[in-house]
Amino acid sequence: MFLRHLSLYLFTLVSSATAALPPIHYTISRRGGSFPAPDTANLTYLLEQVKVVEQRYSATTRTFSGNKVVRKPKRVHGTQAGAALLGEASRDGNWFASLHIGDPMQEVDMDLDMLTADFWILSTSIDSENPLAFPTCRQPKDLVHLPTIQRSVPLSFAHCRPSKQWIRSLLPSGAYLGLAPSTALSQTKTMSLMPQLVEKQIIDTPIWSIMLANRKEGIFSIGGTSVASVREVERETEDSLARLGHQKSERSFTINDAPRREDGDKLSEWKWMKVQGAEGWWQILMRGVFVEGIKILDSQPVVLDINTPFIIAPPLAARTFYASISGSKRLSPPYDQFHAYPCFNLPRINFEFDQWNVQVLNAKRDKGTFSPGGRFSLGRMTRGSGFCIGTIIESRVGISTSDARESNSKVHVDGGNGLSDVWIIGEPFYRDVQVAFHWRDKLVGMQRA
Ligand SMILES: *[C@@H]1O[C@H](CO)[C@@H](O)[C@H](O)[C@H]1NC(C)=O
Repeated sequence: MFLRHLSLYLFTLVSSATAALPPIHYTISRRGGSFPAPDTANLTYLLEQVKVVEQRYSATTRTFSGNKVVRKPKRVHGTQAGAALLGEASRDGNWFASLHIGDPMQEVDMDLDMLTADFWILSTSIDSENPLAFPTCRQPKDLVHLPTIQRSVPLSFAHCRPSKQWIRSLLPSGAYLGLAPSTALSQTKTMSLMPQLVEKQIIDTPIWSIMLANRKEGIFSIGGTSVASVREVERETEDSLARLGHQKSERSFTINDAPRREDGDKLSEWKWMKVQGAEGWWQILMRGVFVEGIKILDSQPVVLDINTPFIIAPPLAARTFYASISGSKRLSPPYDQFHAYPCFNLPRINFEFDQWNVQVLNAKRDKGTFSPGGRFSLGRMTRGSGFCIGTIIESRVGISTSDARESNSKVHVDGGNGLSDVWIIGEPFYRDVQVAFHWRDKLVGMQRA
């Protein structure tokens, strides 16, 4: 209901009141639908999904570029360029938008990926003009039809064909939009979609943002955020619902202190913080983790990634976290990355970022899900159990398995990809917080959803 109103608003109205160019909004969906939230967790499935996340993170490594530490695709033996193209088009669990391209117009799914930096389109038919640095890619130009502002502009992109060396050679065609802030991760060495839009003066604010309306739909905005439009729609939705005499608005999320004035897309309302760590991803510093109002962890580096369906924490941080929830326990191998807590003892959890403290994963269960134990739960540990699996999961990225298994001993840092002490903050967080990304100044902005 809410999203339908919002779409209508975003795609039929363009504000002309401000001098700034309006943002472009795409509706996005999660491929394969919502992440499952069954009554009883399927640990086999969950572990598979955790491994998928870990694989995505293992595809890169840290290295020096001049005097900077940057993330680079890992070299793979037997591939022409020494590396496989990062990312996987049409992967289940990717958030994607529909891209309209060409004349006649074609529609392709465009996956979003915060861990990669290139804009490419994959298909098996490819001409041989304009070869690129990446051996299976060319650089054509084609018309891209932009929603919201209803304009079509010629943009260039890397047009790639799956190489024989790639393990999965029968890839479906699709577009891929890398959203990582650093060009160190770029493999095709082309200008991505958004800098081209700035150059062509289609947008003037080097910001993109994501707002999730529920577990499978959201809005991806380029050149600003959807906050102003969302508030406008909330007002209108509420009004029309009130007029229709409905009890309560059906919206799937709430905004605290939603201003009642004509508010534009005020960037000053966002809490901004600088990206840090090895140059590559959207990594920031989480100042603290609180359980029941008590700070249990300090200064944790986090990487933001919408395509991860969990929150993944370094082993010691995860154990410290669960140690502060009474009755919780760690599962035994092979499921020892998971912890269970008494379903009805869901703790109050807060994350703190630069002077800003926000409650996350709070008790409300999502509509249409069956998982007991609130949004923090991935389902009961076993059928009928009073224990629920928590969505904060122990990382094994950048940690050798034997080290991680030595439960209470010190976990050794292998230092390889620099991820052994980093959290991965995935999709559940985007339900609580709206996040905006300033790619030119390398800033992450947040405000309550
Ligand atoms: C649990 O997940 C595995 C792996 O995805 C799947 O093969 C199996 O059918 C699932 N079991 C149930 C009971 O759904």
